[in-house]
Amino acid sequence: MRIRHGLATLACTPLLLAAPALAQGDALKVGLMLPFTGTYAALGTAIENGFKLYIDEQGGKLGGRDIQYVKVDDESDPSKATDNVNRLIKRDNVDVLIGTVHSGVAMAMARAARQSNTLMIVPNAGADAVTGPLCAPNVFRSSFSNWQPAYAMGEVAARNGHKNAITITWKYAAGEESVNGFKEAFEKNGGKVVRELFVPFPNVEFQALLTEIAAARPDAVYTFFAGGGAVKFVRDYAAAGLKDSIPLYGAGFLTDGTLEAQGEAAQGLTTTLHYADGLDTARDNAFRSAYAKAFGMQPDVYAVQGYDAAQMLAVGLQAVAGDVTKKGEIAAAIRSATIDSPRGAFTVSRAHNPVQDIYLRKVEGTGNKVAGVAIKALADPARGCKM
Ligand code: BEZ
Repeated sequence: MRIRHGLATLACTPLLLAAPALAQGDALKVGLMLPFTGTYAALGTAIENGFKLYIDEQGGKLGGRDIQYVKVDDESDPSKATDNVNRLIKRDNVDVLIGTVHSGVAMAMARAARQSNTLMIVPNAGADAVTGPLCAPNVFRSSFSNWQPAYAMGEVAARNGHKNAITITWKYAAGEESVNGFKEAFEKNGGKVVRELFVPFPNVEFQALLTEIAAARPDAVYTFFAGGGAVKFVRDYAAAGLKDSIPLYGAGFLTDGTLEAQGEAAQGLTTTLHYADGLDTARDNAFRSAYAKAFGMQPDVYAVQGYDAAQMLAVGLQAVAGDVTKKGEIAAAIRSATIDSPRGAFTVSRAHNPVQDIYLRKVEGTGNKVAGVAIKALADPARGCKM
């Protein structure tokens, strides 16, 4: 920016010819809007780690440009989301938005990105609307839609012979959409969701609802919780004596990045997700050892999504040699790319959501061990996306 303005004042001098090259030589400003406090804090850190790992593997540059980060802690608070994202776009003049974890915050970001035509890559939040009614040529997702792992689990639960289920989750977009996805597949395959239970986000007072589940004795329980809330829920479910009597199923966030804290309470739990431990592919093994070396811990699904957000950005910037003003060409490059993800290679749908395998996983020790593929190459239905 600074150099661009400087050169503009030199109009009609030979130096002007150098302006585009010098402008591209500026660092690319990446706005990282993620939660670094609250129940999703660990998720935000894993995404940032994964993103930076890929950038470091490229020598710190994308499309020939250095990267400058502008970080915002969004606190997973939708009421602050519009102000936070507008500060990044209007005050900090970021070239790209990377964020976020919480679906409600991500929807506000997507609206602002759409209005300002800022390139945005969502490295977690599954809000169906982001690749549905809010879809846009400049908005991409490296993660999943809330519908995807949930729909796969609905099929698995029905296949396991369960006839009725109770769902329990947080009362916000991610929880509601996850329950809807599960219900759609479970009921299509002969099951019935008999009760839907909610707690406000990020509340973790589950006792009264666990008592209600114990009294109702459904065949199975389906849940969406993540981060600190998932740790508490899994421990409370086991402590209430339900683990051995009513099978607990979940979208894989229930046990991803949480197993050390959940311990015995999580052992044997079955979940569905677009990543798993023990994939044992050359790509995943290389990613895992690089991540462990850089951060001294094993990666989880959030780290993979951050890494892949950086890969998607790299594809776009490479196509335009770092010239972020060529938005149409960046989008076209990402749309036609195959992303070589640790989860397995994926492409994006017409709504810009990954088309990907959903794994069936079982908790063993501190791993979500792959137990098969629940649904291959699952595409989100992108309902309401007009693009
Ligand atoms: C969401 O709000 O979309 C979300 C949060 C944590 C894990 C998965 C999804």
